[in-house]
Amino acid sequence: MTLLVHTRADLARARAELPGRVAVVTTMGALHDGHRANFRKARQSADSVIATVFVNPLQFGPGEDLDRYPRPLDADVAICADEGVDVVFAPVEAELYPNGRGGLTTVHAGPDGDILEGASRPGFFTGVLTVVAKLFHLTRPDVACFGEKDFQQLALVRRMVRDLDFGIEIVSVETVREADGLALSSRNVYLSEAERAAAQAIPHAVHAAQASSEPLAAAEKALAAEPGLVVDYVTVRANDLGEAPASGPARLLIAAKAGTTRLIDNAPVRIGDPDA
Ligand code: PAF
Repeated sequence: MTLLVHTRADLARARAELPGRVAVVTTMGALHDGHRANFRKARQSADSVIATVFVNPLQFGPGEDLDRYPRPLDADVAICADEGVDVVFAPVEAELYPNGRGGLTTVHAGPDGDILEGASRPGFFTGVLTVVAKLFHLTRPDVACFGEKDFQQLALVRRMVRDLDFGIEIVSVETVREADGLALSSRNVYLSEAERAAAQAIPHAVHAAQASSEPLAAAEKALAAEPGLVVDYVTVRANDLGEAPASGPARLLIAAKAGTTRLIDNAPVRIGDPDA
């Protein structure tokens, strides 16, 4: 049985009843198979699972899609029930930010929060880390599962937990893709047919990069071949987001817009000769 709670008081009561180790999966709802993978990993990693569903206004910039972000709560709760989630915490904004958002104490990522997504979306990771920190305090998990799809978010949450001594194990979950290779995202529903076709260049770039000893050049070439995409960044970094190594394992990261929809993707790649 999945229990849906909206207040921190009801969450605290439900949390107190949960047996054993507790895993949390934080979400903004509009759940898809990528979230399902997170719930499954959470089930494997702990005895009880809490899902949070909250479209966090703090991580949306001016002109972003806060108002039109999908909020299908009934369908989300049904998915959580299907995946054996024990408690769904779906607060309204006033429950999570009872003193308003002005003058709020926030969690600011280190310098790695200002690159890539942080460079394009100023304040984004402050919004993410602040709400994740609050949700960690409210749900008191032993484990938290985050998708690799948001690779920079995963890295920064790991750092926050380490740097601020949260004592929570962070477990990563591999990106889930549509049959055509596009990484699952709640924002894919915004894509028109033509945009969706253009977005294909992103998984093509990922494949090209993974098949090449020069992954960045291969990805750039694949993306440049699609005029329907506006590339924000395509880069190869070290797995901890530092400078890419001269050779060896690294991470390809891509952000691009199809129409007004911003899409991100990333994947492990290898720089240089695979046999070196
Ligand atoms: O990845 C997301 O859906 C959000 O950034 C998160 C972690 C739920 C914080 O609002």
